[in-house]
Amino acid sequence: LHHGHSSEEAQRTSEIIKKLNRKVWILEADLNEPSQIQQMCETAFSIAPIYALINNAAIFKPVSFLESTLEDWNEHINLNLTAPFLLSQYFAKHGSKSIPGRIINILDWRALRPGKDHFPYTISKAALASMTRSLALTLAPNITVNAIALGAILPPENEPINQNILKNVPMQRWATLDELENLVTFLLDGPIYITGEIIHLDGGRHLV
Ligand SMILES: NC(=O)c1ccc[n+]([C@@H]2O[C@H](COP(=O)([O-])OP(=O)(O)OC[C@H]3O[C@@H](n4cnc5c(N)ncnc54)[C@H](OP(=O)(O)O)[C@@H]3O)[C@@H](O)[C@H]2O)c1
Repeated sequence: LHHGHSSEEAQRTSEIIKKLNRKVWILEADLNEPSQIQQMCETAFSIAPIYALINNAAIFKPVSFLESTLEDWNEHINLNLTAPFLLSQYFAKHGSKSIPGRIINILDWRALRPGKDHFPYTISKAALASMTRSLALTLAPNITVNAIALGAILPPENEPINQNILKNVPMQRWATLDELENLVTFLLDGPIYITGEIIHLDGGRHLV
């Protein structure tokens, strides 16, 4: 169970996992630091064979193209794109070869329909969408690489909730975490003939 700063939340989550009679190890790493990524991977792979990698950690700042500083740009590219690159490369080199591995990249509906808002974030996710397809080709047939492009699912903690958000969501509601869990489980456990796929879980937002 990886975390960056949220050690208390990770501890609480590990207690829930243990109550399900599952084993859990908590691994702390700042994914902006390649040396910490390397250290975390070495520790994780020394514990047990690893069959799946989910690239989820990201930052999401509400800055436009003209407002973006070089620091904003670098922060988004480092965490949202470079970390998945390094993690995927380590996973491809060291993951278990006995059954096909699975990589899932968590994207945003903006990745395939970039607009004007959240500029560095959108570009980082668009690049991660391209990496999904490129790695699906590179890593077949040993590893499948798919992505989930999310719409409104959890309101950001550092921004006021945009009350207009549902106006552009054909399904007229936020996604539920159960729906995300179903989709992640499907991509982890479903047909390994699916690779290079980007599935939108966004209530149709990308069509509007
Ligand atoms: N929420 C939505 O409605 C929505 C919509 C579209 C797409 N998404 C995508 O879904 C994913 C999860 O989003 P979320 O809303 O859960 O985001 P979030 O609440 O901001 O969580 C992001 C996670 O990234 C981790 N993280 C941040 N900086 C890190 C660092 N330097 N090193 C290690 N971990 C770091 C944080 O872990 P720590 O707290 O432990 O540091 C945190 O758990 C993201 O890829 C996001 O782009 C979300």
